[in-house]
Amino acid sequence: MNIKYNLTGLTLCIITLSTFAQNTPSLPKEATACAGCHGNNGIGLSYEYPNLAGQKKKYLTKQLNAFKQGDRKDPTMNAMAAALSDKDIDIITNYFSKLPNTQKAQSKEVQKGVSKASSAEFPNDVFVTMKKGAQVEVFPSEKSWEGNPNMLYNAVTPDGKMVLATSPSDNTLTVFDSKTGKQLTVIPVGKAPKGVKITPNGTQAYVSNQDSAEISVIDLESLKLIASIRTEKGPHNARFTRDGKIAYVTLQGGSGIGVIDTKSQKMINVIPVAGITGPHNLDLSKDEKTAFVRDFVHNVAVLDLNSGKVIKVITVGNGHGGIDVAPNGKFAATGAIGDDHISIIDTKTLEQTDIKVGNGPHGIRASKDSKWIYVTITKENLVVVINAETMKIEKKIAVGQFPFWIAVNGNP
Ligand code: HEC
Repeated sequence: MNIKYNLTGLTLCIITLSTFAQNTPSLPKEATACAGCHGNNGIGLSYEYPNLAGQKKKYLTKQLNAFKQGDRKDPTMNAMAAALSDKDIDIITNYFSKLPNTQKAQSKEVQKGVSKASSAEFPNDVFVTMKKGAQVEVFPSEKSWEGNPNMLYNAVTPDGKMVLATSPSDNTLTVFDSKTGKQLTVIPVGKAPKGVKITPNGTQAYVSNQDSAEISVIDLESLKLIASIRTEKGPHNARFTRDGKIAYVTLQGGSGIGVIDTKSQKMINVIPVAGITGPHNLDLSKDEKTAFVRDFVHNVAVLDLNSGKVIKVITVGNGHGGIDVAPNGKFAATGAIGDDHISIIDTKTLEQTDIKVGNGPHGIRASKDSKWIYVTITKENLVVVINAETMKIEKKIAVGQFPFWIAVNGNP
């Protein structure tokens, strides 16, 4: 046995420990059991254990009480929380909420092969919403803006000056100044706002309110709600034609696509989409004659908008997800939140290629030049960057909790 070697190891260990103790509060005994899954430093040890570090104390307290009372169901957490007193919860939530939830902490703990973003694969600014982290992260700078609870969908204005994001639990739309990351205003909209899209001329935003069957129209100069367009049940997200005359909206509560005349601000038609369950997101082919409609379960319907005929129903990964036709029109890419892969559909042949990306891919968007595909991996807190030429993963970037949607400047 080499004594010198062991001594060096011991010294190193003491130095590491004391540095750690200086910078970070130590784990209270009340939270010892939690660390087995959520990590000593509040970073979950694998994708199924959510990060608690840096999460708001109020939110943590609410969740623990909900688990304790059985209002939120998860067998493990129900049992864990049942044993906690109010005082325990106070100590535990104090501890976790004060820990840093930084990219560094995450990449150190869980993620292997995580890299930094660079302008090579982010030629245009990209904005990612974090549902649980309640923030927006910007690429390639990796700046983080403070947002509002459960931020879901977002969009960037054509001039890149503002970013808009919906908060369905608050029934609001937050408007960010993209230069400073500051919130310019928070606008009350309808019930359960989901998708937000901006007219091609940049003057208005359409917010699809899933629970009040209407689209809130926001004027982007006054930043005020100026109209509400009735739809059928469950509008989820919209897509404008390039000339801005029509908005197609997925009616997740029904079976089709609503057609909205933007001038009269009326829904003038509903195109039924046979063979799918709950139209969720959609995008258009480059010639805008075909819609690629992603449903809530595992299908993409290819819909001829002129005849209203479904050309093909393609089975993709499980669960709902985003869908994006790349700006060059060559492929449609879709996520699958209940699965581990995305599907790339060749828009000409309608043939499909699956790419394994990690657990829970939802948001998906190609870069303006169609060279890169960005995917949010909701259950691993990652943004994956795929090279669209080789269809290989180029980078994995650690982000905040539950990255949901992606807005790309130049690919609305
Ligand atoms: C055996 C693993 C395990 C242990 C131990 C554990 N948890 Fe969890 N915890 C989970 C899982 C899994 C979830 C996600 C449950 C779900 O999907 O609803 C979770 C969720 C949570 C959440 C909700 C997070 C969110 O973002 O909504 C909180 C808060 C939480 N745990 C706190 C604790 C605390 C405090 C302890 C210790 C007293 C603890 N957990 C112990 C596995 C564990």
